[in-house]
Amino acid sequence: MDEYSLNRELLDGVDKVLFSSQQIQTRVEELGSRISRDYVGKKPLLVGVLRGVVFFMVDLMRTIDIPLEVDFMSISSYSPESRNLGLVRVVKDLELSITGRHVLFVEDIIDTGMTLNHLLRTLKARQPASLEVCVLFDKGKNRQIEVPIKYKGFDIPDAFVVGYGLDYREGYRNLPFVATLNPQSIRSE
Ligand code: IMP
Repeated sequence: MDEYSLNRELLDGVDKVLFSSQQIQTRVEELGSRISRDYVGKKPLLVGVLRGVVFFMVDLMRTIDIPLEVDFMSISSYSPESRNLGLVRVVKDLELSITGRHVLFVEDIIDTGMTLNHLLRTLKARQPASLEVCVLFDKGKNRQIEVPIKYKGFDIPDAFVVGYGLDYREGYRNLPFVATLNPQSIRSE
């Protein structure tokens, strides 16, 4: 499946492709190799937040060639208010205990850093043996709080992006690439 053979309805509102499916896969494989080397003998527990991270998590797991486990949590949806306050509500918690485990927090995109900061604090309180972050897309420019990122896929410009799991109002997640939207397609919340 490439950009040109996709259903036109799915492409409605899509502006510019920033990262092709191939570029993403190549980078994910590089991250997976590094993680495989760094976690030998540690059986890492990969933790992700539903639903945006699902594509990245699955592809990343496939490239990691050491034993691992995975678990997901779910938080209240992203809104400007919760974002500014760094407040997120855990709607579904992890099912596995992370105490004493080597936890790798896998995130699709980081913008202000507020969500990640909040979640890392929550997880740290459960006393994992180690806690590191792997993020696919980093907006950087909007960062309001420093968060330690050990594995990073790509730096991206400060624009709203969709695809490869990332949504706009729950749409576009199944685009195989990551793209910006036409400004007129983005309605204010
Ligand atoms: P932060 O707390 O500002 O770092 O926001 C992180 C969360 O906002 C991500 O996990 C996404 O759910 C969402 N988000 C931020 N930027 C984008 C984007 O460009 N597209 C889709 N979701 C985004």
